[in-house]
Amino acid sequence: MSASDAAPSELALDFIQPGHALYGGELELRFRVLREPLGYTREQVTFPFEDASLHLVAHAGGQVLGCVLFHPEDTRGGRLFQMAVTPELQGQRLGARLVSTLEAELLRRGLTQVHLHARQAVVPFYERLGYSTYAEAFLEVGIPHRHMRKSLGT
Ligand SMILES: CC(C)(COP(=O)(O)OP(=O)(O)OC[C@H]1O[C@@H](n2cnc3c(N)ncnc32)[C@H](O)[C@@H]1OP(=O)(O)O)[C@@H](O)C(=O)NCCC(=O)NCCS
Repeated sequence: MSASDAAPSELALDFIQPGHALYGGELELRFRVLREPLGYTREQVTFPFEDASLHLVAHAGGQVLGCVLFHPEDTRGGRLFQMAVTPELQGQRLGARLVSTLEAELLRRGLTQVHLHARQAVVPFYERLGYSTYAEAFLEVGIPHRHMRKSLGT
């Protein structure tokens, strides 16, 4: 049985930092799910604020199968980014579990304002989780995106 055969509810979720043993697996997942399909290279996976961000990974057997990142931008909140679930486990609520686990940690830290850049096709996923669109659509990594946001704990 491979790690991706694990039921999503059986995966461990942990916050890690660059340098952690699972960070390489996180970067590989981000590359495969978010960047490779758009024609980007592995060198184009990272953001300038990797070290300053929270990295939540879902893992089993040392393999990273899902992740979501959050960059605190001020004392009230910041940006959720790099949301990815391995294709074999998509549609089984792992993405929702990652976002709710991240949100609980943000609330614990007193951060209540979350915004993100949603790919147009994924807007309904975030809407299911209580996020709302605002402002105009825009292009990022060559595809249409929407600004979305949520106030936690309201
Ligand atoms: C988008 C993504 C993170 C969602 O994770 P997931 O584990 O597949 O989603 P979940 O199973 O947790 O879905 C939660 C809810 O959102 C809905 N949903 C998920 N993706 C959706 C989509 N693309 N369109 C419409 N609804 C969607 C699900 O049906 C589910 O609804 P429910 O509450 O009625 O059951 C995942 O599909 C993914 O990695 N996609 C490719 C990368 C990507 O686009 N990332 C986002 C960049 S902004």
